[in-house]
Amino acid sequence: MSSTEFPQIKIPLEIPFLDQKPGTSGLRKSTKQFQQRNYLESFIEAIFRTLPGVKNGILVLGGDGRYGNLPAIDVILRMASAHGISKIITTKGGILSTPAASNLIRKTGAIGGIILSASHNLGGENGDFGVKLNASNGGPAGEILTNQIFECTKTLDSYKIIKAGRINLDKIGVYQLGSMTVQVIDGIDDYISLMQKIFDFDEISAFLKNDFPIVFDALNAVTGPYAIRLLEELLGSPQGTVRNSIPLEDFGGCHPDPNLTYAKDLADLLLKGDKYSFGAACDGDGDRNMILGRHCFVNPSDSLAVLTANYNSIPGYANGLYGVARSMPTSSAVDVVAKDLGINCFETPTGWKFFGNLLDAEKITFCGEESFGTGSNHVREKDGLWAVLCWLQVLAHTKCSVSELIQKHWQRYGRHYYTRHDYESIPLDIATNLYRTLEDRMDKLIRTDFAGRKITMADNFSYLDPIDASVTKGQGLRIILEDASRVVIRLSGTGTQGATLRVYLESYVPSSGNLNANPQTLLSDLIKSINDLAQIKKMTGMNAPTVIT
Ligand code: G1P
Ligand code: ZN
Repeated sequence: MSSTEFPQIKIPLEIPFLDQKPGTSGLRKSTKQFQQRNYLESFIEAIFRTLPGVKNGILVLGGDGRYGNLPAIDVILRMASAHGISKIITTKGGILSTPAASNLIRKTGAIGGIILSASHNLGGENGDFGVKLNASNGGPAGEILTNQIFECTKTLDSYKIIKAGRINLDKIGVYQLGSMTVQVIDGIDDYISLMQKIFDFDEISAFLKNDFPIVFDALNAVTGPYAIRLLEELLGSPQGTVRNSIPLEDFGGCHPDPNLTYAKDLADLLLKGDKYSFGAACDGDGDRNMILGRHCFVNPSDSLAVLTANYNSIPGYANGLYGVARSMPTSSAVDVVAKDLGINCFETPTGWKFFGNLLDAEKITFCGEESFGTGSNHVREKDGLWAVLCWLQVLAHTKCSVSELIQKHWQRYGRHYYTRHDYESIPLDIATNLYRTLEDRMDKLIRTDFAGRKITMADNFSYLDPIDASVTKGQGLRIILEDASRVVIRLSGTGTQGATLRVYLESYVPSSGNLNANPQTLLSDLIKSINDLAQIKKMTGMNAPTVIT
C-alpha cells in the first residue's frame, strides 16, 4: 500500500454549476461534463457535508465498471478520508451492481453507499457517467436528503481531499488511507449468499437440466460476473450461457438497456430462434431485467403480476406477501392479482425511491415498474438477476414454459394490453411546451370523447406517501377512460440529451376476450387519439417514437 498520510487540504476553487435535478438521488451527466475540473469533487463534497453519520461512519463504494469508475473511486476514497469516514467497503475492480450495493449497505450497517453508474445509459468517453447516493436502508436517497445536497451544491466554494497514492483494487485486502480503512472485498459473494437464502437452487438446477436451455446477456456490463456464478457455476448451465459477460468500460459500444431495441441480439435468439427456452438480460448496473421465453416477450408490468400470482413457488416468500406496489405508469395487471390475493396494492410515482418507505414499513413485499424494474424487500433497489431467478423458480415449480405461464395468467386474470412509446432527444423547449399545453387542458378534458370513449378522469398525478405523509406533485398527466383504459404522458427525469417524452398506453381485455392480439394494433386507437390531442408528431417533428416497448 503506497499511500502516505497527508494533512487535509482545503481547496478554494471555482466550483462548476452542477445542475443537479432537485429530488433525484444522484447526478447523471455526460462523461465529458464529469471530466470538468472539480465537477465530481463538488458533488461528493456536497454529499459528505450532508449525509448523516459521515464522521466515523462506514460507506459502501463501487460501480458498474464504466469509463471513469476507477479514477472516481480514487477521488472519493481520498475525499472520504478527509471527511473522517472510518471505513470504506469497496470491491475487486470496483465492480458492484446496484442491488449488490444495496445488500452490502444493509448487511454492514453502513451510513449509505455511492454507486458509480449511469444505469442503462451508454458508457465510455462519449457516453454518460453518474454518481448515485443510497441511504442507510440501502435504497436511493430520499427527497429530503437529495434536496439538502442540491442546496449544498449551490454554495460550495471548497472541498476536502487528502493526497495519497492510488489503491490497487485488483487485490482483495485491507488498506489504510490516512486515518481511514479501505476494505476491498469480492463484490459477488454476499449477493450470491442472499440469493441462496431466497431460492431453491436444486429445484431450478434440476429443471434446467431437463431440457430447458437458457441464455443470459450481460451486455458487457456489471452483471456478467454475478450471472456466471449463479447460472453457470451454481445452477449448472453450460459455459457460454452468459453472453457478453466481461464488464467493459464502454460496454463494447452496446447500449446496456435490456429492451427489445437495445438487446436485439438476445431478443432475436428467443423470438425468432428455437435454441433457447428462456432468455434474459440486465442493464448497466444490474437493476433492470428483461424476460423472454421461446417466441415470447414478457411485458415488465405482466412480469410483476405473474410473480405476485406465483409468490408461493419461491421459498423466500412462501409465507405470504405484505402487499405490492407499482409505479403509476405501470399497467394495472398486478392490481387485479393483489385484489384476488386480498393484499394491498400501492400506486407510487416513477422511481424506485418511492418504494423504500413502503418496504421499510413492511407494507409491501414485491414492487415493480414498467421500465423493466422488479424487486422485493430483500434489498432496497430493483434487482435484475433476482427477477431472473424468480422466473426460473416459478417455471421450475410450475413446470411450465414462459408462454404457458403467461397464457394461464391471462386466462385467469384477463390481459392488460400495454405499450410505451418514447420520443427521445426532443429539444427541451419543445417538450416542455408540449407537456405544459396538455397540462393546461387537463381540466377541460373530463367527459369529452377520446378514442370513442368518454374521459372520466384527467389530472397530473400527485402522491401522498402513506408512511411519512410527504406529497410529491406533478408526476405525469393521466387520462383515464370509462372502460379504465389509460394514457399517461410524462417527461423523463433520467435522459441526458434534450428531453424524452414517454407515452404509456393501456387497455384491459377480460379473459373471455382476445388475449393474443398485437398490443400496437389493439391500442392503435389510443395511440392515434393521444397524438391528435397532444400534437406529438406536429410539435416534435418526429413521425414515430424512437423506442416502442
Ligand atoms: C426511468 C424509468 C423509471 C426508472 C428510472 C430509473 O426514468 O422510466 O421507471 O425508475 O428510469 O431506472 P425516467 O427516464 O422515465 O424518468
Ligand atoms: Zn439501472
